[in-house]
Amino acid sequence: MKQNRRSRGFILTLKGWDKLQASITKADLTDNAQLGFSLEELSSRMGLALHTVSRIQGRSEPIDKSSLQSAFAAFGLELCEEDYTRPNPPNELEVRGAYPQYDWGEAPSVSVFYGRSVELVQLREWVLEEQCRLVALLGIGGIGKSTLAVKLGLEIQTEFEVVVWRSRRSLQNAPPVEEILTSILQFLLWALRKEIAIAQSFDGKVSKLMECLMNHRCLLILDNVETILLSGDRAGQCRPGYEGYDRLLKCLREVPHRSCVLLTSREKPREMIPLEGEKTGVRSLQLKGLNPTEGRQLFEQKGQFAGTERDWQVLIEHYGGNPLALKMVASGTQELFNGKIASVLDYVQQGIWIFEDIGDLLESQFNRLSMVQEEVMYWLAIHREPVSLAELAEDIVTSASKRQLPQAIKSLLRRSLVEKSEEYFFLQPVVMEYTTQRLLDRVKKLGNGVLGIGHRA
Ligand SMILES: Nc1ncnc2c1ncn2[C@@H]1O[C@H](COP(=O)(O)OP(=O)(O)OP(=O)(O)O)[C@@H](O)[C@H]1O
Ligand SMILES: [Mg+2]
Repeated sequence: MKQNRRSRGFILTLKGWDKLQASITKADLTDNAQLGFSLEELSSRMGLALHTVSRIQGRSEPIDKSSLQSAFAAFGLELCEEDYTRPNPPNELEVRGAYPQYDWGEAPSVSVFYGRSVELVQLREWVLEEQCRLVALLGIGGIGKSTLAVKLGLEIQTEFEVVVWRSRRSLQNAPPVEEILTSILQFLLWALRKEIAIAQSFDGKVSKLMECLMNHRCLLILDNVETILLSGDRAGQCRPGYEGYDRLLKCLREVPHRSCVLLTSREKPREMIPLEGEKTGVRSLQLKGLNPTEGRQLFEQKGQFAGTERDWQVLIEHYGGNPLALKMVASGTQELFNGKIASVLDYVQQGIWIFEDIGDLLESQFNRLSMVQEEVMYWLAIHREPVSLAELAEDIVTSASKRQLPQAIKSLLRRSLVEKSEEYFFLQPVVMEYTTQRLLDRVKKLGNGVLGIGHRA
């Protein structure tokens, strides 16, 4: 079906796109001062529906030739043969690379992608129907936030005039906010054909960004926002010296604009919390793991495996459906057990930690915890069953730690290390396993003063 529809339409060639943009920019300067044409203005000038204009701009979905002609005519141009072409069914690289106004930079590949249909429907609704200004994808490391953000972005990019992805690498080095702002602005101004004049001051940069986001429909994706958040007591707060990010998030959240900023983070930024909910334009999605069928597909990417339905289910649930964990376990199962799921389960059931890589992943999360948060994690591992806040308060020895307990639990929930069901708190099996191992190591190191767990060595 899709193939048929495709073969009936055309898209602009890069040359045609350039020609049209140049005329739009020229008309901008004469008719429209500095503001730039909005999608609505283009639509009324071209006499075309909004979605047709965004398809023309996006160059990925085909449209009929007469619409392209109208678009060109609206800016005094004639559509020539070199200006349009029939689109090939795109592969991922083409979708990412061929459109100059979509900067996917170092975004991860999604050529292998399973499940997430419910999440994609939900996110499309928030971004496209509700036109949310700020959407966060949250969850533990490896759960698939970045992958889902790319998948969604590639699917909906043609609804936007510009897409900018600023990723793990740039954010992970936690550059000052001004640097990130400059890099985003440079691309936005170029793609929107505006003069690339960037103010020196932080406020000047923010107001330029907001002007772009207000006058044009842009999709801005910021990956790994937790790297600019504080580790320790208060999850979600900005690191000292990075408060500019707080102010930026506040603007993105509060100033009405027509664009969407999509964040991925292991922790929920504090700036997301006050306004979140219906009709506020601010939403967040806590990502859960893949289900056993999807998890199994991920495994089978790595080779052949043997196991009963039950084995698969137990194994995938044990790792909370975490795609990164599953990929690592799949490799380990191939290397060590010739693909036999039952053999891995033997180890898993004895609580033997065999896949170091998952430990590394969790270790990096643990290293960000405050003493009280770490202590809570150990108590949850000792209990093994879900426990209430009151039960945890009984475990904790010092009164200072007791006072900090509610805040610690909140932070751990926000960091996705702890799960909650009704009023009970618990750990995912794989997190429990790691925490138990870590506790045992500490006991070995510190002797029997286990409750020295409240005092970092
Ligand atoms: N739906 C999926 N289908 C197939 N593979 C997936 C899926 N989601 C994630 N993966 C794979 O799992 C790994 C981890 O995913 P991803 O990097 O998106 O996690 P993340 O939540 O962004 O982690 P981090 O917090 O470390 O940034 C990647 O190798 C990715 O390819
Ligand atoms: Mg990520």
